[in-house]
Amino acid sequence: KTIAVFFGGRSVEHEVSVITGMQVIENLDKSKYEAVPVYITKDGKFLGGESLSNFKTFKEGNFDDAYEVYFKAGRGGKLYRQVEEKGGLFSKGGMKEEVYADVDMVFVALHGTFGEDGSIQGYFDTMDIPYIGCSTLSAAVGMDKKIMKDVFRAHDIPVMEGKCFYRRQWREEKDNVKKAITELGYPVFVKPVNLGSSIGITKVKEAAELDDAMDLAASYDRKILVEKAAENPREINCAVMGYAGDVIASALEEPVGWKDLLSFDDKYVGGGKKTGPSKGKNARNCPADVDEDLKKKIEDLAKDAFTAIDACGAARIDFLVTEAGPVVNEINTLPGSMGFYLWEPVGIPFAELLNRVIELGEI
Ligand code: DAL
Ligand code: MG
Repeated sequence: KTIAVFFGGRSVEHEVSVITGMQVIENLDKSKYEAVPVYITKDGKFLGGESLSNFKTFKEGNFDDAYEVYFKAGRGGKLYRQVEEKGGLFSKGGMKEEVYADVDMVFVALHGTFGEDGSIQGYFDTMDIPYIGCSTLSAAVGMDKKIMKDVFRAHDIPVMEGKCFYRRQWREEKDNVKKAITELGYPVFVKPVNLGSSIGITKVKEAAELDDAMDLAASYDRKILVEKAAENPREINCAVMGYAGDVIASALEEPVGWKDLLSFDDKYVGGGKKTGPSKGKNARNCPADVDEDLKKKIEDLAKDAFTAIDACGAARIDFLVTEAGPVVNEINTLPGSMGFYLWEPVGIPFAELLNRVIELGEI
């Protein structure tokens, strides 16, 4: 089967997605699947190329031998491209269309906006092309931190207390917004509702620091979530895989050596590997050092959270462990590196993880 691996994309998590996409292509089970790379530029063009090495040496604007590819409505899963027509004796030359790849399924290796939020899933639905992972609806719910948490609350899944404001409210009714945040109580986290990889998030310890944090979040999103900050929580992450209540949990990981907020740099820029387990600044303990009781609670909540939003595939659920117990901080329906390093300790190698996720996409 031919699997078109889509990566890159228009979101601020573009670079992370390039890493995930490459890892997926390299680790696909070659006895079952042929990978066709499709790189989405930061301005949204779909690019194909002759060989994977073109993609590996990718730098924006230096994409040798790449060409635009596109699906056409009503033409099944075919990706097309324009090629120069070889001019015969009486031909004027020009361009003609040819098939770049017959695609059986799309592997969405895109993070954040327009990749993890249901947008591209909706496009593939419209084009009648099967894809891995969450549906349009579950991806969209999993990306909107406000609506995600409303759904979790409705399922008795613990989340931090918080309030959501529109950018317009912040700009036009600043005093009311500030009052509401004071009622919530500092310290708080200010977050754009729809981003990933910690981008645009600030921990605000007192009212005097609020303006900059709100302005920053408002520069990324029209909705801003302000949540109470727990005191020195542990952060524990757990991946789950499956669909429709039939889900399994991975090993737990605990990022260590961070303070207040696990930033984009902590996650991806510190020493060692870009994503996955690493040493140094962005170290993580995997499996995390937690007792059986907490482990079971986290695994159960992770599965509940996954099912609550009707997710499919392999997601990573991030927890904060407070004095009152674990609370779900968020669900990532397309985790960086597909969270492969969380599955290896429970005996599921990367290729097997990909096989299972692809098979789930087929039901
Ligand atoms: N949003 C990033 C990729 C993650 O959560 O892993
Ligand atoms: Mg996230």
